[in-house]
Amino acid sequence: HIYADAKDASRAVAHEIADLIRAKQQQGKLCVLGLATGSSPKTVYAELIRQHREEGLSFHNVVTFNLDEYYPMEPDSLQSYVRFMKEQLFDHVDIPEGNYHIPDGTVPVNKVAEFSRSYEEKMQSYGGLDFQLLGIGGNGHIGFNEPGSLINSHTRLMMLDHSTRAAAAMDFGSLVRTPKKAITMGVAAILSARRVVLLAWGERKAPVIRAALEGTVTESIPASYLQTHPNALFVIDQAAASDL
Ligand code: GLP
Repeated sequence: HIYADAKDASRAVAHEIADLIRAKQQQGKLCVLGLATGSSPKTVYAELIRQHREEGLSFHNVVTFNLDEYYPMEPDSLQSYVRFMKEQLFDHVDIPEGNYHIPDGTVPVNKVAEFSRSYEEKMQSYGGLDFQLLGIGGNGHIGFNEPGSLINSHTRLMMLDHSTRAAAAMDFGSLVRTPKKAITMGVAAILSARRVVLLAWGERKAPVIRAALEGTVTESIPASYLQTHPNALFVIDQAAASDL
């Protein structure tokens, strides 16, 4: 779906999420959301907060699993995705503490594999993801599944690409201060979500959107794996659609 601008697009995505949350509430069920960081989803979260404040949308039945976290990373660091999610969403809605999950950037390196397994097991224990929100890296990554990630990859520690670190360097003050690794939900877990919506805004994303949507399905553009998903949608603005 191509929208005139990110604001219109974000409103539509937030409405879909809100409708899902309400439908699950009516069924007396939990709503399990996979959430993303980066600049793209900020406008979606802002619209969800508005709906909470002005339209009574409640998050009491919402359980969330974030895609990724830098490694190593303290949760109260300025750049942590824990801080990002609290600032952008969790601190402003009524989601019960304990209902949101973000990969733990403080687990010792020899415990990361065990942590990753239990992260996926916990997702499964809630019946899997009803909805996964995604951004896309300039190199085609989803979460922090960098090029080369396999379609059946699981949650794991990932070495970040140079381009990914360069894009994040501004947040960290310099490239040398930017983490070299991250814990990311695997491609298999992302594709197991019953609905996937990927967001992209701006001309800078146009080439990778073209590659992901119109190119072959390839490990060099992990977002292209979404072509194999039965219920995935790209929600983009006109600028991001300019190479299609
Ligand atoms: C980071 C995140 C990704 C995100 C990407 C794009 O790499 N780990 O999940 O999709 O940034 O970010 P932005 O939305 O700011 O372009």
